[in-house]
Amino acid sequence: MANNITFTMLKPDSVEKGNIGAILEKITSSGFRIVAMKLTQLTTADAEAFYAIHKDRPFFGDLVTYMTRGPIVAAILEKDNAVEDFRALIGATNPAEAAEGTIRNMFADSISENAVHGSDSDDNAAIESAFHFSGREMF
Ligand code: CMP
Repeated sequence: MANNITFTMLKPDSVEKGNIGAILEKITSSGFRIVAMKLTQLTTADAEAFYAIHKDRPFFGDLVTYMTRGPIVAAILEKDNAVEDFRALIGATNPAEAAEGTIRNMFADSISENAVHGSDSDDNAAIESAFHFSGREMF
């Protein structure tokens, strides 16, 4: 199972711009199955915990403000090689460097407001999924 799931968030900019449907279509047409999904909003404590690894970076305060300013879509996705394949689908952190046709190339405006999150390892996919979903919310 660990190799087969990843965790994503459609970040507040994606929701604000009305891009939920277009991004989900791109995800599912790329072979990912939605295991769990919800529209939710991070509290400041949630965002500080989720991004704790970045707490000493100069952009941390702006990141927490951005990620808490409106609703997000949180989802768990299943596919063979899910973590790696999803990071390829979303493209580079900086949309200016994201390959043509990737989600960040198509939907993100800047390195700070980059449309989507994707887990960077199987371990983090499991941790991030458990942060947002209980067992009975996963299908
Ligand atoms: P992500 O890689 O999903 O998780 C960390 C987030 O921090 C990243 O997306 C961006 O939203 C933000 N981020 C990363 N690097 C920078 C940067 N150099 N300047 C501003 N925000 C950043």
